[in-house]
Amino acid sequence: MNIVITGFMGTGKTVVGKELARRLNFKYIDTDDIIEERTKMKISEIFEKYGEKYFRDIETKVAKEVGKYDKHVISTGGGIVLRKENMQSLEENGIIVNLRASPETIYQRTLPTKGSRPLLNKPEPMKEIIKLLKYREPFYKRCHLMIKTDNLDVNSIVNKILNFINEKNLLKT
Ligand code: S3P
Repeated sequence: MNIVITGFMGTGKTVVGKELARRLNFKYIDTDDIIEERTKMKISEIFEKYGEKYFRDIETKVAKEVGKYDKHVISTGGGIVLRKENMQSLEENGIIVNLRASPETIYQRTLPTKGSRPLLNKPEPMKEIIKLLKYREPFYKRCHLMIKTDNLDVNSIVNKILNFINEKNLLKT
């Protein structure tokens, strides 16, 4: 069984995923890191040179591959939820967690890394955040567990995920 961390940019997927992996003694991977390794390009470069669809197609291949792993915490790019087939791949052997945050929190957290996030590298990033969040809400709602991260530290978020897993006996066979 894997734990898959989804959520909009700036919701803390990387820090939470790494700490969760440490606590569970699982391996940690990030679908964006895999894409960058494979293409030998930064995500922003892929978007710039080949466009979003090209990136999404690679993301779908990676989702299919990592969905077959076991005992991994898998952090994902914020848009992975958009394709149904990605969710099917990840759900095959995974519990899907959705980290959430308000547009203001997301704005503050992503501001320093705007350049590496092509979808927010726009003249009015706050407007983009609000627009994308609204569009994606129904997709994020399909996840197994949703956690609001605005006022929580990493440990509290990890504890919530671990409690959910334990309550539902999800890692016991
Ligand atoms: C994206 C989020 C990014 C990255 C790409 C597209 C999105 O990942 O996959 O820029 O569509 O929300 P992070 O959520 O890790 O920033």
